[in-house]
Amino acid sequence: MAQLWGGRFTKETDKLVYNFNASISFDRKFFEEDVEGSIAHVVMLEKQGILTEEEKNEIVKGLASIREDVKNGTLEITEEYEDIHSFVEANLIQRIGDAGKKLHTGRSRNDQVALDMKLYTRTEVVHVAQELEELLHTLLTLMEENLETYMPGFTHLQKAQPLTLAHHLGAYFEMFKRDSLRMKDIYARMNYCPLGSGALAGTTYPLDRGYTASLLGFEGPTLNSMDSVADRDYVIEFLSALSTVMMHLSRFCEEIIIWNSNEYRFVEIDDAYSTGSSIMPQKKNPDIAELVRGKTGRVYGALVSILTTMKGIPLAYNKDMQEDKELTFDAIDTVKGCLALFNGMLKTMKFNREVMAASAINGFTNATDAADYLVGKGVPFRDAHGIIGRLVLYCIEKNTCIDALSLEELKEISPVFEADVYEAVSLKTCVEKRLTVGAPGPEAMKEVVRLNREFLENSWLQEKR
Ligand code: ARG
Repeated sequence: MAQLWGGRFTKETDKLVYNFNASISFDRKFFEEDVEGSIAHVVMLEKQGILTEEEKNEIVKGLASIREDVKNGTLEITEEYEDIHSFVEANLIQRIGDAGKKLHTGRSRNDQVALDMKLYTRTEVVHVAQELEELLHTLLTLMEENLETYMPGFTHLQKAQPLTLAHHLGAYFEMFKRDSLRMKDIYARMNYCPLGSGALAGTTYPLDRGYTASLLGFEGPTLNSMDSVADRDYVIEFLSALSTVMMHLSRFCEEIIIWNSNEYRFVEIDDAYSTGSSIMPQKKNPDIAELVRGKTGRVYGALVSILTTMKGIPLAYNKDMQEDKELTFDAIDTVKGCLALFNGMLKTMKFNREVMAASAINGFTNATDAADYLVGKGVPFRDAHGIIGRLVLYCIEKNTCIDALSLEELKEISPVFEADVYEAVSLKTCVEKRLTVGAPGPEAMKEVVRLNREFLENSWLQEKR
């Protein structure tokens, strides 16, 4: 049981207490960040004349050797240390002796852990955005290929109006684009360095916080030392954005599960992304889509957990905040895994274009266009709506569709109908004429695809790679 703070204590910590309190089993995840932060700290301490050049060199060399040995497996991070900070410091002292004891000058584990968590999540914000971008590329390619793949659009899961697969996928493109931009915003807002805030009230050493911040790639230092060690807003924002990503993925999965069902057959998920049944030989189940949908709850759980943990904590640091880590790490890994798998599933999925188009034709998806046709002939829209409503009822009774009726039958319901109605309510016309910005008409969609291609080419991630 290696502890940094034994001086004031006369008794050993109870074993159960020690285990309950320890965080090394999970904060080992930011070992690299802890070393990186410590190096920046001592470089600054030397610049400020708090450490000699020799001491700094010894410490930096020692830290680098610890990093190297952990990487190549000669040094193991074991649970005999309370946390990753103790592990690094104890090993440093063991390696270089007295100089190692100066590493923690002008620093507390409170600002240290705030920094480590920030460095770790900052990197992961970029990783998640990279996964999102991969998915956006897949979506945009599919959109380009399916500008004229007709399918029904739904409201209330009832066929509503015809559109294209490009348009439907384009809706998800916009969602994941916003998710990517949310990552960009979070990155910018979180990018201030808490190191140098000490336990809560700064320190009397003449630290150059701006210098440490710049060494670690931050915009600058945070401006209130209490807030610096008590703030986990960036974790909450990140988890909130991750939850939104999962919500989008989950909706998409739900649709894919429906589309992949025996009744719809709009798509077929590739064998590599499906699983079978142990008893029913015919089955090919969309388990990956279901699992992604299922894991959404887990990510929401992390968000609600940290929000609840933080809500009653008085300033500044309290040990409750140690609870920010495990669920956050899990949520990040879950979302990255889900994005990668979903992307693979989408790339290999087969779209049954004929089935989709056939489904777009039946179900009166052209009823609005039929009403608009009458409006074009001078009928007020409300009257046109009523006429087409009666027409639909007539078709349902006869088990047919609007375009299959003869002109005589149409004229019986309204004399305004003429021969040009067939062209006006054809699937092609219904889709092609929807040309307002954001609508499914292929010409309108082409412009959207162009704008989104531009968005990806000027990705905010370019400068972060
Ligand atoms: N393991 C702790 C955490 O994750 C590190 C900070 C400990 N600070 C303290 N004052 N006990 O929050």
